[in-house]
Amino acid sequence: MAKKATEKSPIRAAITGVHGYVPPDVLTNADLARMVDTSDEWIVARTGIKERHILKGRGLGSSHMAAEAVRGLLHKTGAAPREVDLLICATATPDLVFPATATLVGDMTDIRGVGCFDVQAACSGFIHALAVAAQFIETGKYRKIVVVGADKTSSLIDYTDRATCVLFGDGAGAVLLEPSRTHGIIDTLIRADGAGMPYLHLKAGGSRLPSTAETVAKGLHYVHQDGAKVFKFAVARMTEVTRELMRRNRLTGDMVDWLVPHQANLRIIEATAKRIKLPAERAMVTIHKYGNTTTATIPLCLWDYEKKLKAGDRLILVAFGGGFAWGGAYLTWAYDGR
Ligand code: UT7
Repeated sequence: MAKKATEKSPIRAAITGVHGYVPPDVLTNADLARMVDTSDEWIVARTGIKERHILKGRGLGSSHMAAEAVRGLLHKTGAAPREVDLLICATATPDLVFPATATLVGDMTDIRGVGCFDVQAACSGFIHALAVAAQFIETGKYRKIVVVGADKTSSLIDYTDRATCVLFGDGAGAVLLEPSRTHGIIDTLIRADGAGMPYLHLKAGGSRLPSTAETVAKGLHYVHQDGAKVFKFAVARMTEVTRELMRRNRLTGDMVDWLVPHQANLRIIEATAKRIKLPAERAMVTIHKYGNTTTATIPLCLWDYEKKLKAGDRLILVAFGGGFAWGGAYLTWAYDGR
């Protein structure tokens, strides 16, 4: 349990609510086996994924799912849109190149006249956004911040490429951060190494190689990944970050109640948990039903496990992805599951 709070305890950013959204359409492994040369056995054995949700509907982007998650979050926590001081959206699949998806989500949820911006750090975007948001709470500048991770990664996937199309799903998850002297984010760590770009990226559609008929014909708008290489780095860096957060905060494996890992591959999650000597059942897992939802994996885990969480539980959040960019956060949970 955390130490008793006093007036001298530091102000921390506590997660005081979480809500998620996944679109209704489900793409199962059996569906994929009818589309490409794959099988349910291969996908389950190599990734742990059984199904994923796909956002369908003309004109619907990541903002649609983010807005659903944020609306639910505000309803659930009783926070009025006008009380929100800042809205940060982590996404790798913004609706538009500009303006920021956060501004669209603000408009859709009636959060107006306050800062709304996006954070782009691929799969670790939610951790980066959380690290940024926590600063505004810790300094006393803001009292209510919404951080939402939302990705329609299906919009970047080549559904004839079996190496990538089985991995990703769409979804969004949002948290409310408020000041607390008892619980909250105690430590964060964010890292990047741009030398990792060749192994996980999208070749066209940015300023370097704008979209043309040729880039579309060549399939340069789809996710390119060297899976084996990314896998190796993901296990190494997620373990490293978790260990560093544990060392800096004098935590042993038995003191960590929950590991909340990015959901890219069940084997990555299990390998990370094993290396920090955490029993597998204390690592949150949702990959079987959502797949890799990019920035949404961590808030969707918190949403799914919310009922099991208790005030004072120690959580380590950790993610790795394109960039390479990765990071982690150590926090104590602020409320009993509801
Ligand atoms: O969230 C962002 C970060 N991303 C990640 O962390 C993803 C990290 N990487 C991974 O999760 C894994 O590398 C994958 C799941 C992507 C691939 O698993 P793997 O065990 O590394 O497989 P592989 O790429 O080494 O491929 C092994 C074999 C190959 O066949 P050959 O060359 O041995 O004949 C692939 O062609 O599996 C084949 N394969 C498939 N077979 C059936 C690749 N994808 C499939 C598939 N179904 N869907």
